[in-house]
Amino acid sequence: MKKNKVKLLIVDDDPKVGWILTEGLEGQYDILLARDGIEGIQVASKENPELILLDIKMPGMDGIEVLRKLKKAEVPSEIIMLSGHGETKYIVESIQLGAAEFINKPFDVKEVEIHLQSVLEKSHLRNKIREYEKELKSRNQYESFIGDSPQMVEVRNIIEQVADSELTVLIRGESGTGKEIVARMLHNLSARSGLSFTKVNCAAIPRELLEAELFGYEKGAFTGAHKTKPGRFEVANKGTIFLDEIGDMHLELQSKLLQVLEQQEFVRVGGIQNIKVDVRIICATNRNLEEAIARQRFRDDLFYRLNEITILLPPLRDRLDDIPLLVDHFLKKYNALYKKEFPIISGETIEKLSRFHWPGNVRQLENVMKQIVVREDEDIAESLLKAGSAMPANTGGLAHSGSGTQQQAVTGNPHPAESETGEKDYSLKKRVSRAIEREEKALIAEVLNKVNWNRRKASEILGVSYRSLLYKIKEYKINEMNS
Ligand SMILES: Nc1ncnc2c1ncn2[C@@H]1O[C@H](COP(=O)(O)OP(=O)(O)OP(=O)(O)O)[C@@H](O)[C@H]1O
Ligand SMILES: [Mg+2]
Repeated sequence: MKKNKVKLLIVDDDPKVGWILTEGLEGQYDILLARDGIEGIQVASKENPELILLDIKMPGMDGIEVLRKLKKAEVPSEIIMLSGHGETKYIVESIQLGAAEFINKPFDVKEVEIHLQSVLEKSHLRNKIREYEKELKSRNQYESFIGDSPQMVEVRNIIEQVADSELTVLIRGESGTGKEIVARMLHNLSARSGLSFTKVNCAAIPRELLEAELFGYEKGAFTGAHKTKPGRFEVANKGTIFLDEIGDMHLELQSKLLQVLEQQEFVRVGGIQNIKVDVRIICATNRNLEEAIARQRFRDDLFYRLNEITILLPPLRDRLDDIPLLVDHFLKKYNALYKKEFPIISGETIEKLSRFHWPGNVRQLENVMKQIVVREDEDIAESLLKAGSAMPANTGGLAHSGSGTQQQAVTGNPHPAESETGEKDYSLKKRVSRAIEREEKALIAEVLNKVNWNRRKASEILGVSYRSLLYKIKEYKINEMNS
């Protein structure tokens, strides 16, 4: 198969330069020629050559001007300047404008070849580093966004596709499903990531203050407005603003937000001057916006404008396969945070957690795991779940979340205490776990006796950590007398 050659554009009004270089370099490069600056810019924009050799002195537009225009247009080519006698004064200017190299005329073709190779290698290296950095950044992002169920893989795909666009994203999902994590990921994976991420919780700020908070106010706009204050939109300029709980924003403010979305400008409270901002907007809600529209509590035009892309986070009960990974993640997180060494969670507890219906979603699971680690006791899971099952299930009533599946999951995986067959299951499970406990206690006692109560040795033989052996000895009340 023919290997694709690197495209090299030579821009020079002197035809001899083109001939000499074509003859010497044709074998390795796919050569394009342009005889003046304007033609050079046209060919560069159309062909995207990897390398451009650009003469400085040309009639009409000179090489420095061409370089400036190409850089402004963000043409990705590496540009090498060709300068005639006495033009070295342009070296600094060209390098400042972003030229990769400077070659003096008259040149030797071999010398040009070496320069081209070196520029090309540096450029490839830079691209690799850029790709590597991007991958690393996205991997770090994903490390804290756990879940490999098909639903979560789909969510990740959408995030990847839309993060770097300027589209307004609406994130929907029940409370605790991870909407804020997704908003932060969208920002961190976008070109705005080096700039600010501003979160405003529309439900937490009293209605009468929210407008001033978002759009700022002029001195004297209302009692207490002693000086002009910019709002969050101004502060977020060039970055991302995350409007959390957008479903709670009152109607008048919704129209002002619509205006920002459409014109990227607004007026401060009490002001007259339009303020322009360049802000990417991400919103989230756990409310049923369709229902709010029907009740005239939410503007439909705003809804369609916010809804350029919707990311729907499924409730945890619809993706119970994610539980083992989440458990592991939170175990590591809280062991590190609280300097604990709580060992792995048993299969039995994981199973229990996987049968729960999680009205508080991932946040609830995170809380359960936090308490298990802090108290170093996984057996408290059951009572925590019982307390948790009294939590009201979020009835955000998401129209697109497939309420059928949701319904099925709730009735298909109820808490054991809630179903008749569950009760049976439950007592059977209790008997099994008592039998396991008896077996475990006997085995620990036997090994401890064999090693003369050398606990370290016993933990090695039993294949459990020293810490968890001590815990079991205490829990089963094993001592040298009764073992
Ligand atoms: N996929 C996930 N991986 C790891 N942690 C998660 C995931 N989803 C949620 N969490 C954790 O659960 C908690 C709740 O998440 P988050 O605050 O993003 O939820 P939310 O959807 O914004 O909830 P609310 O509507 O109540 O504001 C956070 O501590 C978050 O770190
Ligand atoms: Mg939230």
